[in-house]
Amino acid sequence: MKIPVAILGATGMVGQRFVSLLAHHPWFEVVALAASERSEGKRYGETVHWLLPDPLPPKLAEMRILSPDPEQLAEAKLVFSALPAEEARQIEPHFARAGKVVCSNASAFRMEPDIPLLMPEVNPDHIALIEIQRKNRGWQGAILTNPNCTSSGLTVALKALDTAFGVQRAFVVSLQALSGAGYPGVASLDILDNLIPYIPGEESKVETEPRKMLGQLSQGKVVEAPLRLSAHTNRVPVLEGHTVCASVELEQPADVESAAAVLENYQAPSLARDLPSAPRPIILLRREPDRPQPRLDRMSGHGMTTVVGRLRPDPLFHLKFVVLSHNTLRGAAGGSIYNAELYARYVGWK
Ligand SMILES: NC(=O)c1ccc[n+]([C@@H]2O[C@H](COP(=O)([O-])OP(=O)(O)OC[C@H]3O[C@@H](n4cnc5c(N)ncnc54)[C@H](OP(=O)(O)O)[C@@H]3O)[C@@H](O)[C@H]2O)c1
Repeated sequence: MKIPVAILGATGMVGQRFVSLLAHHPWFEVVALAASERSEGKRYGETVHWLLPDPLPPKLAEMRILSPDPEQLAEAKLVFSALPAEEARQIEPHFARAGKVVCSNASAFRMEPDIPLLMPEVNPDHIALIEIQRKNRGWQGAILTNPNCTSSGLTVALKALDTAFGVQRAFVVSLQALSGAGYPGVASLDILDNLIPYIPGEESKVETEPRKMLGQLSQGKVVEAPLRLSAHTNRVPVLEGHTVCASVELEQPADVESAAAVLENYQAPSLARDLPSAPRPIILLRREPDRPQPRLDRMSGHGMTTVVGRLRPDPLFHLKFVVLSHNTLRGAAGGSIYNAELYARYVGWK
């Protein structure tokens, strides 16, 4: 039997990705959709401004949009949240108190010590934090979060290199897609023929979230990795796919060929292998001099694979490379669903 799930923020950029990915998911079945008062009571197909190339699933198009209230969504065991951060901070705990497991894309709780910030191919063991969370907060449900869309691909590449050689410092510059700003996002007159070298709040997320995910879980706490990061984040006129140019300093210097082998052969920890959304492969290493490119490479592994290219020596640190990750798939809805699959496996539902 499939697990009944609901989507909060179902009409937004990330919400639409949830709808599209969950319409045919082997483990989960969407039983309810919720959004703001603006959309409540309307049929999903009537109110959503559908932006994806795949068709709106007919069954979900007929559903009435509900308010994000645990009583209205009582049938769902698991709730996917694509709410803006402020709303998530207010609304998600109501669901956890009502016994629901919330898989959230929002930044509201990511850095709280008892909330797992999860990427199953990086730190699936951090899911054990939910036991501490339940004890601390006195709720039966749980909140699990996935990282910011720019941290996602970068963290996968750093994890592979950190496990093999240790990463001490990284200097990164992002080129982030428009869909990362939600809908309607950045005005066309601001971004066409242009680049905006400022994304509010983004740099601190990219400088802190990887440290939590690469940290070790010890005695019920995540001890953050000592890695130091400096990030410049930029919005560019690309629709989907965040690119990050990274220079890294290693603990044990490695040549390009050994680093290439480590990246290409990286495997997820065993707890997270064989889940339906697991990226296949986890990392795709491109050896052409001009790849990865967002338009050509973002759908690698159904948008779940981290694509790394331009691996070469760095004159300041040790190595430099380019990472591409699909921001609304691996960096948002796909990542949240992958976390929910990990949870379902962890608690023995599947
Ligand atoms: N876009 C990305 O690449 C990306 C990646 C990672 C994480 N995230 C995070 O994911 C979340 C969603 O992002 P997005 O890009 O999908 O945003 P978005 O396009 O602006 O969509 C926001 C959604 O939240 C709903 N909403 C707004 N206020 C609400 C309220 N008071 N009560 C209930 N629902 C409300 C909206 O419903 P209405 O349509 O009814 O207004 C809409 O469905 C954000 O926290 C964002 O930071 C986004």
